Amino acid sequence: MSIQRCKIIELPKITDPRGNLSFIEGGQHIPFDIKRVYYLYDVPGGSDRGSHAHKNLHQFIVAMSGSFDVVLDDGAEKKRFHLNRSYYGLYVCPMMWRDLDNFSSGAVCMVLASAHYDETDYIRDYSKFMTAVAAAKA
Ligand code: TYD
Repeated sequence: MSIQRCKIIELPKITDPRGNLSFIEGGQHIPFDIKRVYYLYDVPGGSDRGSHAHKNLHQFIVAMSGSFDVVLDDGAEKKRFHLNRSYYGLYVCPMMWRDLDNFSSGAVCMVLASAHYDETDYIRDYSKFMTAVAAAKA
């Protein structure tokens, strides 16, 4: 799939002197229904996460606190996204290799996913990812 499908989505933000509020509805603000939520936290400085692709999974990544970078790669093009606000996030379509790095201290990375955890959906070897990308184009 093309990296052009992956994009930053701005979420609704209800500003209030008591504290702001944002929300995400599956199929409304992001282009899939939410089946799973997971989050990365207590990430040590200099740590890298990700380094895999998913065959079918759609994801939406939000920096709930602090900041980090997500590097996406569709096999032809790479893009780096810096996430540092809780009222926007990055939509990641299937078949995107992703690396997460540059975590600030105290960063919390929340991921909304379109399916339950399934190890068989992962591609964890970059050369296998490139083979799958080539096969999809053929
Ligand atoms: P992984 O997806 O490789 O982490 P990251 O992409 O953030 O570097 O997952 C790390 C471990 O956690 C792996 O052993 C599988 C497990 N895991 C679950 O059991 N359920 C989940 O929903 C996720 C995302 C991971």
